[in-house]
Amino acid sequence: MKNPITISSFRVPSLFVITLLGSCMVVTPQLTKDFYSSTCSDVLKVVRREVQNAIKAETRMAASLLRLHFHDCFVNGCDGSVLLDGSDSEKLAIPNRNSARGFEVVDAIKSAVESSCSGVVSCADILAIAARDSVLLSGGNGWSVLLGRRDGLVANQTGANSALPAPTDTLDAIATKFAAVDLNLTDVVLLSGAHTIGSARCASFSDRLSDFNDTGAPDSTMDANLVTQLQSACPTTGDGNNTAPLDVNSIDLFDNHYFQNLLVGKGLLHSDQILFSGDEPAVSTTKSLVQFYSSNAGLFLDHFTASMIKMGNKSPLTGSAGEIRKNCRVVNS
Ligand code: HEM
Ligand SMILES: *[C@@H]1O[C@H](CO)[C@@H](O)[C@H](O)[C@H]1NC(C)=O
Ligand SMILES: *[C@@H]1O[C@H](CO)[C@@H](O)[C@H](O)[C@H]1NC(C)=O
Ligand SMILES: *[C@@H]1O[C@H](CO)[C@@H](O)[C@H](O)[C@H]1NC(C)=O
Ligand SMILES: *[C@@H]1O[C@H](CO)[C@@H](O)[C@H](O)[C@H]1NC(C)=O
Repeated sequence: MKNPITISSFRVPSLFVITLLGSCMVVTPQLTKDFYSSTCSDVLKVVRREVQNAIKAETRMAASLLRLHFHDCFVNGCDGSVLLDGSDSEKLAIPNRNSARGFEVVDAIKSAVESSCSGVVSCADILAIAARDSVLLSGGNGWSVLLGRRDGLVANQTGANSALPAPTDTLDAIATKFAAVDLNLTDVVLLSGAHTIGSARCASFSDRLSDFNDTGAPDSTMDANLVTQLQSACPTTGDGNNTAPLDVNSIDLFDNHYFQNLLVGKGLLHSDQILFSGDEPAVSTTKSLVQFYSSNAGLFLDHFTASMIKMGNKSPLTGSAGEIRKNCRVVNS
């Protein structure tokens, strides 16, 4: 590894050294596109192949892998913490339990990467690459993934419960959770656009289908036909595990239909529909962004990419912090 700054070989005033060291600590450690170019030059090819196989076996896996990267980055930064098993596992936190999926696919990607170059590529980076590939293979844009994240040593179940947004959250609550990872309202709208692929369990939205918020009626911001459809998909006697498409328009395609749905009351989750139909002050911002992206497919894809990169840069462990996990489910012994 090249050391970007070699101070010891210079005679410099100590105040300068202190300033320099100080700024090194504040500046976000740099991830780079070519981080593995000399140590694991095939990593992108290997991950792409594995993601492609997984999506071929089950189209929804693209959505599941994309979501894992998001759930990783919001808790202790993008450090692979979401992948750890154990009693403090984030997998058992409410936003993930019976819901987060794709862990076996991540294991398969990791073992393929390990056989190509052992002990070099972090699980956190694998999630970032797999998320990019999932978007691209679903019809979205690709981007150069910045790499060099290392894996964290702890899971944080309490953190996952508090930091991850819930579908019943207010827009203010969602905005606050995004702000905690340096993402603003524009990022909330763009990244919510990930709900153009994948599914949600009835448990995540059935409160909207009858007696919403003790009104004695379904959520009035949901299209009446969609209410009827979902009521039959989600029988009240069911266990909440049935699923419905997040984008009724094109469940497997990464496009801007998610925003078009919101204009006509066809957002599946409460947290989706409030971006357009809510009554909080921030809605004036999110509503016009929803309108904008509903009619600018290309710009949605471009700007989504920028927000993903922003999210993926959150508090990476770099240098000698953390480790390169051998097995994504456990810290090295
Ligand atoms: C804005 C706040 C967000 C909330 C409240 C939220 C909530 C949810 C919920 C409740 C589900 C369904 C879980 C289930 O019932 O099993 C879901 C699925 C999903 N979320 Fe989000 N989400 C948010 C933002 C995001 C972001 C930022 C991304 C990625 C960039 C994302 C990607 C996905 C994907 C792809 C799925 C489908 C997963 C699958 O089919 O396996 N979500 N989300
Ligand atoms: C767990 O996550 C929460 C919320 O992100 C954070 O405030 C807390 O410092 C984390 N705890 C540990 C031990 O990393
Ligand atoms: C959010 O940040 C981006 C830059 O990352 C900026 O272009 C955008 O205007 C900001 N949005 C809001 C609502 O502040
Ligand atoms: C639910 O009802 C409470 C009390 O009437 C109100 O403050 C809140 O805004 C309502 N929430 C939604 C999502 O309609
Ligand atoms: C839903 O499915 C999960 C497995 O994914 C199962 O453990 C759970 O018991 C089922 N029922 C409920 C109510 O969550």
